[in-house]
Amino acid sequence: MKIKFANCSHLKSIMKLQNLVKENITNKDMLVTLSEDEILENIGNKVLCICEIEDTIVGFRSMHIPKNDYLSKYIPDTQISTHNIIYSDISIVHPDYRGLGLQKKMGEWLFERIPEGYTIIMATVHPDNIASIKDKFHHGMHIIAKDFVYGDKVRYIFLKYRDERRKCGEEIAVHVDDVYKIERLLNEGLIAVDIRDNLLIFTK
Ligand SMILES: CC(C)(COP(=O)(O)OP(=O)(O)OC[C@H]1O[C@@H](n2cnc3c(N)ncnc32)[C@H](O)[C@@H]1OP(=O)(O)O)[C@@H](O)C(=O)NCCC(=O)NCCS
Repeated sequence: MKIKFANCSHLKSIMKLQNLVKENITNKDMLVTLSEDEILENIGNKVLCICEIEDTIVGFRSMHIPKNDYLSKYIPDTQISTHNIIYSDISIVHPDYRGLGLQKKMGEWLFERIPEGYTIIMATVHPDNIASIKDKFHHGMHIIAKDFVYGDKVRYIFLKYRDERRKCGEEIAVHVDDVYKIERLLNEGLIAVDIRDNLLIFTK
């Protein structure tokens, strides 16, 4: 298995893999795909990596440097500079290669190579996408809000300050399906920092 930055010659294979995954996804709301132009932009910014097994692309993962930031409004700290924000964007793994930790490994690789100057990492994840929620927590991100993004798509909003070492206080565990309580705790300013056995772990 090899993880590396994609270049323009990989565009066709990346699109093919994305289309295959899009066609096979059961909950279409979970995935917002990228256009060719967006993929090329991310390749150009050196924020999109591919995972190859025996010279075949089995996954890709991308960050995105937002020109029109739509996530910083969820950060409680109003002093931050939006120029420092990068999004952890899409992850796609071929169905035959799931559950092998490839999303996580691509994330570790990519997070180590976040371009200089980007100190705030943000992401959105569908509340039912447990693999991606686990992934974001693995990379030290935490949930700060839940809202409708991309028009009408419900998403958790994740945040991480680069190089942040979080000290956890008292924990409150809430079942992932307890939508009312999750929203209440987020509205009270608590953040979710982990998921264990279908329980979201909140702290102050
Ligand atoms: C989401 C996706 C990228 C995950 O890829 P993956 O390489 O299989 O994920 P990983 O193997 O790194 O799994 C991460 C964790 O989620 C868990 N997991 C994986 N699939 C899961 C599932 N369907 N349900 C619950 N947990 C799951 C893994 O066990 C792992 O948990 P662990 O850290 O406790 O071991 C892949 O399923 C995919 O391409 N889905 C369709 C596109 C999509 O929804 N992308 C995300 C939005 S951009």
